[in-house]
Amino acid sequence: MVSSTAISAQGLTKRFGSLTALDGVDLAVPAGMVFGLLGPNGAGKTTAIRILTTILRPTAGRAEVLGHDVVREPAVVRGLIGLAGQYAAVDPNLTGRENLRLIGRLTRLPRRRFRPRADELLERFGLADAGDRTVRTYSGGMRRRLDVAAALVPHPPVLFLDEPTTGLDPASRLALWEMIRELVGTGTTVLLTTQYLEEADRLAGRVAVISAGRVIADDEPALLKERLGNTVIELRMPDEDRARLATGMIAQRFAHAPEQQDAVVRIASRDGSRLLLDVLHLLDQHALTPRSVTVHESSLDDVFLALTGHHAGNTPADDPPPSGARRAGSP
Ligand SMILES: Nc1ncnc2c1ncn2[C@@H]1O[C@H](COP(=O)(O)OP(=O)(O)OP(=O)(O)O)[C@@H](O)[C@H]1O
Ligand SMILES: [Mg+2]
Repeated sequence: MVSSTAISAQGLTKRFGSLTALDGVDLAVPAGMVFGLLGPNGAGKTTAIRILTTILRPTAGRAEVLGHDVVREPAVVRGLIGLAGQYAAVDPNLTGRENLRLIGRLTRLPRRRFRPRADELLERFGLADAGDRTVRTYSGGMRRRLDVAAALVPHPPVLFLDEPTTGLDPASRLALWEMIRELVGTGTTVLLTTQYLEEADRLAGRVAVISAGRVIADDEPALLKERLGNTVIELRMPDEDRARLATGMIAQRFAHAPEQQDAVVRIASRDGSRLLLDVLHLLDQHALTPRSVTVHESSLDDVFLALTGHHAGNTPADDPPPSGARRAGSP
């Protein structure tokens, strides 16, 4: 089956002075799927979205939306897309309903179309009761939902969502995922950025991992995981020194490259249980006893760790995030 490409980019580059925010990004987003752009803070996700939605011009490279060049045909592209940016673009002084109607007017939909559309979207996003309150009385999650609803007013075939679920509680996040799936079910192409590995894994048919302005992996989530082994063994050693010792030994003895972070050693493998026995045997011979051992199916966070040497959303210079703020999809 041949699927057409809804969004494409070749060698997309953006420099802000001496800072290179995007460094030769290639993307091909098939029509009718959720494509996840996954990366930590500052990776270049928003910059990519802003170029693809004609807000920013690239320094080099080119991009197309449904076959239209974002630099040469920005007006055509704007007519084909919806965008919910990272920061809410709705007017806090208007009500939810007024905001959606305003978008309808701005996108030149006829009144008989945008009025019912606004009502329908308020309903769908659980904002019907709040529709006639000014947005400044909304919670953060309500604003976020209104923002996504606003992007949907003109019924665009291609939708860009920049971190759509950041700041949403788990129930609202699930509800939004459901809506995104529904949209894709009706043929919409969705490009979303996320720092949540679980989100990319659960929602996206394809994921590009972006780090420091470069795509470092681009695949189906399942294949990304498979490339790095089906299972991950995690050994928590009593301290960092012993973790380093264990990492060295494992790397030397087995054809697996372990990752070490603080006192934890992780090894990705296709035959996790066999390797686990061998690894424990090796450590035991050297009187190294892990504090705890877990074996789990590799998550995208493991993929990220293996690709970049650090956890997603946590650049090497960063302090480790508080445990409650961990953005990984692992249980
Ligand atoms: N207008 C600008 N002027 C100068 N630098 C910028 C500008 N916009 C973005 N940058 C820089 O470009 C890099 C990429 O930023 P971008 O906003 O694309 O990252 P991001 O992946 O969206 O991050 P986050 O997850 O924090 O939203 C960052 O180093 C940022 O500081
Ligand atoms: Mg961003």
